[in-house]
Amino acid sequence: MNSVVLQMHEVTLTYPDGDGRLTALDAVDLTVRRGELTAITGPSGSGKSSLLAVASGLIRPDSGKVLLHRQGGVLDLCELSRAELTALRRTDVGIVFQQPNLVSGLTAVEQLEVTERLGQHRWIGPRRRREIRRRALDLLDAVGVADRATARPDRLSGGQRQRVNIARALMGRPGLLVVDEPTSALDTERGAAVMALLARLTAERDAATLLVTHDRLHASTADHRAEVVDGRLTCRPGVVRLDGQCDESHFVDQSGSRDGGETAAADVAAGVRQSR
Ligand SMILES: Nc1ncnc2c1ncn2[C@@H]1O[C@H](COP(=O)(O)OP(=O)(O)OP(=O)(O)O)[C@@H](O)[C@H]1O
Ligand SMILES: [Mg+2]
Repeated sequence: MNSVVLQMHEVTLTYPDGDGRLTALDAVDLTVRRGELTAITGPSGSGKSSLLAVASGLIRPDSGKVLLHRQGGVLDLCELSRAELTALRRTDVGIVFQQPNLVSGLTAVEQLEVTERLGQHRWIGPRRRREIRRRALDLLDAVGVADRATARPDRLSGGQRQRVNIARALMGRPGLLVVDEPTSALDTERGAAVMALLARLTAERDAATLLVTHDRLHASTADHRAEVVDGRLTCRPGVVRLDGQCDESHFVDQSGSRDGGETAAADVAAGVRQSR
């Protein structure tokens, strides 16, 4: 079943810019569904990372709705406190940045274990510790680096570091995986392998993955594609679904009707009611 995980509705984000404001996202509508990988491309500075930052609750937009559908209801990220957003990112949203940012003193398996323990104030008993280790090892196996579990980052290749980074983002069993340029530091072959891995994990774990890439070839392997140009999300000839259709339930055609937006608005109203 293609159930919705993330809905962004009329999201606008500006940054301070001298005396004025720079519009990084301009009335963006986007829906991301479980089990699907959506790739966003676009020129440098067009707003791709800003879109991911808003989708994962790292930045609050000026206006709009960012609805996260999860077990037990729908949350509007724009209405949550900073502490609530931090807690949510530990459990429901996995984030993979361009640079892995692994902790230099920790082994691959420890990178994952530490993530699980963050924010847990209670003492963790030996049984729970064993469960955490087993899950960390399973995830390292799932991303193909089980044999490097005891290696520290300086002993891992770029591709292996990115795989550990992805495994770490999955520790909390997130429904939404947000990935910013995971292949930019990798050669073509390793980049393609990381894309294939993300597609497999998205399907196997029934997560919704929102991924930014500069590489149109990588984007072409995604279930859905869109482009950000000057902060606006576009779906136009050449940037369409693999089946050749511009899917208006995912992306509002900037030049055309706002049907998708109206549908989203109804869902938003329902979602906000549910989350109360
Ligand atoms: N913290 C900030 N303060 C002010 N302006 C910012 C900030 N972050 C980004 N911007 C501006 O917002 C616009 C969108 O930036 P963003 O990082 O989202 O682009 P991007 O598409 O991810 O670019 P790239 O492909 O180079 O990573 C750019 O013009 C950028 O200069
Ligand atoms: Mg960026």
